[in-house]
Amino acid sequence: MPEFVVVTAAGSGLRLGYNRPKALIELGGIPLVRRAVDGVKRANVAGVVVTAPLDHLSEFEAIFADEPDISVVAGGDVRQASVYNGLKEIPKLARRLGVDLTETTPVLIHDAARCLTPSTVIDAVIKILEGGIDAVVPAVPVTDTQKVVAPSDAGLERVVGQVNRAELRAVQTPQGFHWGTIMRAHEEGMKRLYATGLEATDDAGLVEALGQNVFITPGSPLSLKITTKLDMVVADLLISNAELAKSFQ
Ligand code: CTP
Ligand code: MG
Repeated sequence: MPEFVVVTAAGSGLRLGYNRPKALIELGGIPLVRRAVDGVKRANVAGVVVTAPLDHLSEFEAIFADEPDISVVAGGDVRQASVYNGLKEIPKLARRLGVDLTETTPVLIHDAARCLTPSTVIDAVIKILEGGIDAVVPAVPVTDTQKVVAPSDAGLERVVGQVNRAELRAVQTPQGFHWGTIMRAHEEGMKRLYATGLEATDDAGLVEALGQNVFITPGSPLSLKITTKLDMVVADLLISNAELAKSFQ
């Protein structure tokens, strides 16, 4: 079955702190967006849409210039809008490639910032979608104890509750959906974004808002989201130490 992927790379990378889009920053000499796209291409997907910052479009286009199965489109102000732009490109890419796009075609949404995601995780997401489940996200257990806090008169946050850690999962990408489901979820999500300004922090949240089930598959610590310079240090260690990386698979 053909699959499509949206790789979100339109963020500015403020927290990483270079004056360049995060997805163009190199890890071991290779831009994060190149690594993320290569990662999903290893799963033999039919086509990939990359969302890029509008003012850096040509730099992203240059990276994927010789690959007809990759489309680069401008992202939006927030991640949700970027993904929506990416999804709208999929029917055009499918037509160009002569590939069928149906209600149940698997569509993955993956962050360029998670460029070290192991193939096993990507393959598992695709397999679950092909088995008939229409929304699945990779996730890992939470290790720190979690507390609910609120502001207090003492000027310090005060603990007002504790959640049962065993019930919590930290979700990663690629999140996987059937084409019809994720497009409907994003259409509704964009209406909400315009009406309320409220942004969904992940794509599965938009499917949950439709009242539909979202399922979990095991994620990986290698799927770390590169956000700060500390994450770059960790990612550098992982790519330069094959044994270390293998131990986290
Ligand atoms: N993203 C996007 N469009 C946006 C914002 C984010 O496509 N308007 C993408 C980023 O490129 C990244 C992913 O969504 O791959 C997750 O976002 P995040 O890690 O927050 O990246 P940035 O927004 O670039 O970083 P920061 O929040 O530190 O500026
Ligand atoms: Mg961001």
